[in-house]
Amino acid sequence: MNWSSLDVLITGGAGQIGSNLAKALLKLGADVSVADNLWRGKKSNLCDQGKPFIDFDTRFFEVDLTDADACQRLCAGRDLVIHLADVVAGINFVFGNQLFVFNQNQLIDNNMIRGALQAGVARYVYVGSACSYPAEKQAVLNPPPFREDDVYPASPESAYGWSKLMGEYLAQLASEAGTIDVGVLRFHNVYGPRCEMDPEKSQVIPALIRKAIRYPDEEFVVWGSGAQRRAFVYVDDAVDALIRVVERGLGAGVIQIGPDTSTSIREIAEQVVAASARTIPMRFDTTKPEGDVDRAADWSKARDVLGWHPTVDIAEGIRRTYAWCARELAAATA
Ligand SMILES: NC(=O)c1ccc[n+]([C@@H]2O[C@H](COP(=O)([O-])OP(=O)(O)OC[C@H]3O[C@@H](n4cnc5c(N)ncnc54)[C@H](O)[C@@H]3O)[C@@H](O)[C@H]2O)c1
Repeated sequence: MNWSSLDVLITGGAGQIGSNLAKALLKLGADVSVADNLWRGKKSNLCDQGKPFIDFDTRFFEVDLTDADACQRLCAGRDLVIHLADVVAGINFVFGNQLFVFNQNQLIDNNMIRGALQAGVARYVYVGSACSYPAEKQAVLNPPPFREDDVYPASPESAYGWSKLMGEYLAQLASEAGTIDVGVLRFHNVYGPRCEMDPEKSQVIPALIRKAIRYPDEEFVVWGSGAQRRAFVYVDDAVDALIRVVERGLGAGVIQIGPDTSTSIREIAEQVVAASARTIPMRFDTTKPEGDVDRAADWSKARDVLGWHPTVDIAEGIRRTYAWCARELAAATA
């Protein structure tokens, strides 16, 4: 596929996945614009060594996508919209702000698909979440890796999971309407450089890395028992899947992205401590929420349709993420 002639809008492009994707698409020659309200994303994610890799004056739009008119204006003239903006955060924020999360994500997802349809955008990508799988199917250790249709009958544990499932459903309806080519990926837990480390909004891997870097100023506390397990996807593998879904996965329905093995949060904590090369005592705080028990992906559809497979294992991914976080925190305190 020739990316060099494409005008691409990435919503949420100042966030973790979006900023890595923006960089990758620029490398392929695409004309990339980013829309983000910086709720969790940062303009610094769109920089390398402090230098922006997109033009902030002409290719960056600081905009709140709960504004429907703004979404339509942003979509005008685009060849492809990759819609990644949504409220994403750690377990504490999600469970403490269920109405806000659901409401924001519904508004953003509805406005973006409507804006894209009204603007006549030809190609559109939406990204769902493994948090949408039914709570009861994730309530035991070592469940069989989920297939895409295991998401129904629906009963996600959180409003976030519900909002992302509604987003998938909306994207599917738009696809069936026949005027726009839609691709839908469903990601398991994505981690890697350009992640959020803030204590309020960070997800588990960046939160543990921040605590390890800051130890002993911050105690290395692991939330929950550490027995809970997730299937982790390194961000480069997520970006690869996004490129592949545009190239060969439009109209193919939901495609799940993640490994078929899960890793316990205790093992993640141990890998983070190993990456720190220090002796750091851990404390497990079982008063904190730990969410679903276990899940992993049957990624055979991703293999068959996209030719995708995971390439970065968890130990290597944590080492790379740790190195990035250490540089960022050192620069912030310099
Ligand atoms: N990170 C994961 O583990 C994971 C897993 C499954 C699915 N996803 C999905 O992937 C997408 C990207 O996630 P991410 O990990 O890069 O998260 P992120 O928080 O880094 O990126 C999301 C971006 O959306 C922006 N945003 C939020 N509300 C907005 C609004 N009203 N207007 C404009 N921008 C707004 C945020 O500022 C942020 O930059 C999301 O749709 C998320 O649901 C992520």
